[in-house]
Formats: sequence, structure tokens, C-alpha cells
Amino acid sequence: MSPGPSDFRSDTVTLPTPAMMAAMVEAEVGDDVLGDDPTVNALEARLAQMFGKEAGLFVPSGTMANQAAVAAHVFPGEEVIVETNSHIFRYEGGGLARVAGAHVRTLVGDGGQLPLDELNRAVRHPSVQEPRTALLCLEQTHLFSGGAILPLPYLEQVFDFSREKDVLVHVDGARLFNAVAETGVELPVYGNLCDSLMISLSKGLSCPVGSVLMGDGAFIERARRARKWLGGGMRQVGYLAACGLVALDETVPEIGEDNARCRRLGSVTLGLEGIRLAQETVDTNILFLEVTAREWDAPMMVSALEDKGVLALAMGDRLLRFVTHRHIQDGDVDRAVAALQSILEG
Ligand SMILES: Cc1ncc(COP(=O)(O)O)c(C=O)c1O
Repeated sequence: MSPGPSDFRSDTVTLPTPAMMAAMVEAEVGDDVLGDDPTVNALEARLAQMFGKEAGLFVPSGTMANQAAVAAHVFPGEEVIVETNSHIFRYEGGGLARVAGAHVRTLVGDGGQLPLDELNRAVRHPSVQEPRTALLCLEQTHLFSGGAILPLPYLEQVFDFSREKDVLVHVDGARLFNAVAETGVELPVYGNLCDSLMISLSKGLSCPVGSVLMGDGAFIERARRARKWLGGGMRQVGYLAACGLVALDETVPEIGEDNARCRRLGSVTLGLEGIRLAQETVDTNILFLEVTAREWDAPMMVSALEDKGVLALAMGDRLLRFVTHRHIQDGDVDRAVAALQSILEG
């Protein structure tokens, strides 16, 4: 169990491993804006190769990866279709409008899946009066649906549909490795079912900073330009990329443990009066619980949990969010369960 509080607020609270710290000290670096940081180049090339894409681009954040991707894919005024509760739409400060000048259309998804019949209705026919539908965005795993995995057959259908309709597909794969740990699907299979994808290093993979965007060479060159005007061109950034290379060997293979601990937390809380699972399944490392006890709300629960050494997030009045990651061990799950039990039964 953690010596301090058990921090379930987010997998972004993870700290670099000792091997990452050592890699930072030893990293060979150069000026990445000039293209000569060997560690950044190695990380970009390795990830692109792993996913069967031509090229990669190291960026400071998942938000920048998504926004640079959209800016590189669409002309201002073109339409982007996103899920109503997707991170790219809800939690990136309106960047789709601000950064890419995109015309945004939202569809309500089911477990993060944009329904195909609605997609079919939403993609516009060519017309001088209407915006051109240029891009569909998916999120794997889908944060707001409790880390739901978008299944492979669904991704295949969306990709086939996108080719038929001549629209591009971008995948926000901030937690794609959490999905891979469950599905066992080969990375190039995921890579082949989209035009671009990004993965985050700074969440469950435990790196301090960074995401990597992947796609074809021309797309990555356009995204590199967008990264520059967003101020994301960094110099000796191989010190950070070095952590990413360590993560691919060290934390990626272990990420399934985070999913398993989250499932255990979900299954134990099923038996508690006063809260209920606010998602159909616990696919990966995110758990939303709805506070049903009348005398409690989510912010009250968060502060009572904190008194018992357990940190969670209140998402509105009745929703609690728990996220598992490398610093959450079995003892932390036990502590969270005991805390919930004593609050609700006390
Ligand atoms: C699904 C998803 N996409 C993108 C991001 C953005 O990543 P960052 O916080 O590195 O900008 C997040 C962050 O939590 C996320 O959960």
C-alpha cells in the first residue's frame, strides 16, 4: 500500500520509475527543432514502427497531439465529427475551434462508439452550401465511459465506412495500451484502422511528460508545423523522450495489472449500499461510481475518503471517479474498499 494517501484521482499522477530517472541522466540529446535529438528520433521511429505507421512526432501533451492532428488533417471550416463526451471535444479548451478552426459536429456515443447509422446520416453530401465532413475522431479507451474499449469489429466497420465516404479517422489513444493489455490485438492492426493516432506516455505508462502522434510522413510534417506554432517545438527534449523508450519495455508490459485492480475495485463496490457502478463494464483502469445514498453527494464522499487516506475525484454532484495506475497496489484497493464501506455504513 502507498505510504501516503492512495491516489485514485488519475493515472496522470504517476511518477517516473528509477530506470526512467537513470535514462534521463544518460540520454543523448540534441536540438529537436533542428531534428537532431537522437533520443527523440529513436522514440518516434520506434513507436511508428510498432504501430505500422510511417512517422511519429513527440509532443508535450495529449492535448497537443490531438489538436495538432486535427489541424494537420482539416482546413478551417471543414467538419470534424466527435463523440459528445470525448476528451478532444469536452476537455481541450475548445481547441478544435481555436486551433484547427474546425466546424464541429457531436454525436452521442454508446461506450464511446459513434453509432454507425448516425454517422451515416451525419457525413454530409458534397455541397457548396455545407461544410465538408473531413474527419472522424475516436477515443480508445473512452475515458468518460469508464475506460471502455472500442472493440476491433467496430473499428473495422468505422474504418471501412470512412474509406467509402472519403473521410479521415484520428484516434485519441491516450490509453490505447490499457486496451491492448485486454484485447491482445497486435499494434499494427490498430494502426491500420486509422489515418492517425496518438498515445500518451504520461498516464499509465508513468513518464513525466509527453505523447506521440503517428501517421504518414506528409501528415506528420504538417503536424510538426502545427506543433511549432503551438509552441511545442522543444530543444534537448530527448531527456523526456528517454523515459518513453524505457516505458515501452518497462511499464507497457505491466499495464494489465492496473486494469485488473480496477476490475477488483469495481466488483467489490458492487456489494455496497449507497453507491452503484455508473458504467456497464470495467474494461480497463477507470471506474465511475454513482453516489445513490441520499445523505451523501460526490464532493462530500471525496472529502470523507480523503480523511481516510483515499483520493478520488468528484465529477459533478453524484459521480465519483477512481483510476488505477502503477502506484495503486492491492493494499490501496483494500484501503479504498474499507473506506467506502465505513463511510456508507457508518
Ligand atoms: C482520453 C484523453 N485524451 C487526451 C488527454 C489529454 O492529455 P494531456 O493531459 O497530456 O493533455 C487526456 C488527459 O487526461 C485523456 O484522458
